[in-house]
Amino acid sequence: MSIQVTPNGEACGAIVAGIDLSNPVSSEEIAEIRKAWLEHHVLIFPKQVLTDDDLERVSLYFGEFGVDPFIKPIEGHKNIIAIQREADETSPIFADIWHTDWSFQEVPPAGTCLYSVDVPPEGGDTLYANQHLALEKMPEDLRKRLEGKYAFHSAMMGYSKKGSYGDKDEGRSMVIEASDDALEKQAHPIIRQHPESGKEAIFGTAIAYMVGIEGMPQKEGMDLLMELQRWQVQEEFVYRHKWENNMLVIWDNRSVLHKATGGYEGYRRELHRTTVADDVSRWKEKPVMRNTSISEDQSESVAKERISISGADDIMAQLKPAVDTFGGFPNPVKMNFGTAGVFHISGKDIVREDRQADCTISMAPEVFELVINGDIDVMGAVMEGKVQVEGDSSIAISLQGLF
Ligand code: SIN
Repeated sequence: MSIQVTPNGEACGAIVAGIDLSNPVSSEEIAEIRKAWLEHHVLIFPKQVLTDDDLERVSLYFGEFGVDPFIKPIEGHKNIIAIQREADETSPIFADIWHTDWSFQEVPPAGTCLYSVDVPPEGGDTLYANQHLALEKMPEDLRKRLEGKYAFHSAMMGYSKKGSYGDKDEGRSMVIEASDDALEKQAHPIIRQHPESGKEAIFGTAIAYMVGIEGMPQKEGMDLLMELQRWQVQEEFVYRHKWENNMLVIWDNRSVLHKATGGYEGYRRELHRTTVADDVSRWKEKPVMRNTSISEDQSESVAKERISISGADDIMAQLKPAVDTFGGFPNPVKMNFGTAGVFHISGKDIVREDRQADCTISMAPEVFELVINGDIDVMGAVMEGKVQVEGDSSIAISLQGLF
């Protein structure tokens, strides 16, 4: 039996047949698969009946296990986490925003292996965005503004105690342990040479983990990162992967972004995931890594700074172009900005309803983390907005991949 690699004809991805991963794989076959992986970035192995032991063995063909922070591993397998959601679960879909895995680490992982255990009959696709292609097609002007720059990456927006998987995250079947470790920051080049192939790609995204640009004022840096974000996940760079049971997908975190999607309400979904560490000794160029942490003072200000919201017209004025940019919301969303009103968004229509409520936003402008202490209600979508405060009556909202 010989390995067949068939490109899927999309922005990235190839289907691999002619190999049974439940049996040991020869070093020649591993080399062949790795070559295909570097070429296609996402490899799909359908019809593979694998145990958790098999999943670990196959992952190790790609490199050592990476470190999975914040998420509790499954029983008996410290290197496997379950991406799961029960049929009756109402918590926001896990990882429903564009990201590359754990890019806030000093040496971020090379790859991720995801094996389907329980696939819903509809929805639950995973999207991949090819970041070599996005860079190749990038307008010269945008590229020039990014060249040579380093972005700070941090897990604070997701995994700090105030993050979206922090203290307020309830009713989730996955066990996520938010921690202050998420406040660490790490700088990586925005345009980075792929460590193995040497080909340039955009590394990371402002939707998850990128929190600023080294040497740039916070607002300017975030504006540039948001402009980059809108560029890098356009449809022409995206492959939508549909799962079947017993399918293994291995993607290259150094060349693609990915995100989960919902659309399977009432059904269970479970996939088992391992992380493959990058091997710095393989890198064509030695990494330039800069570690930096948020000072105690700064993290204190996250907790202390509280701003009452007002300026509903401003919110509306900012929401409209943001919603248009994202092409409208597939699910109705209700955002309660307390005294500023409740905004109902459906498709591209936004309706504001007056409402007086005791709601405050707690945030540190430096960190750009949005934490709502009052009642924010986002139905059918993950709230991953970013709010910038410019004085206390004007609020600029950049909504990022709310679904
Ligand atoms: C992930 O980001 O690992 C989850 C992807 C998915 O659930 O589709």
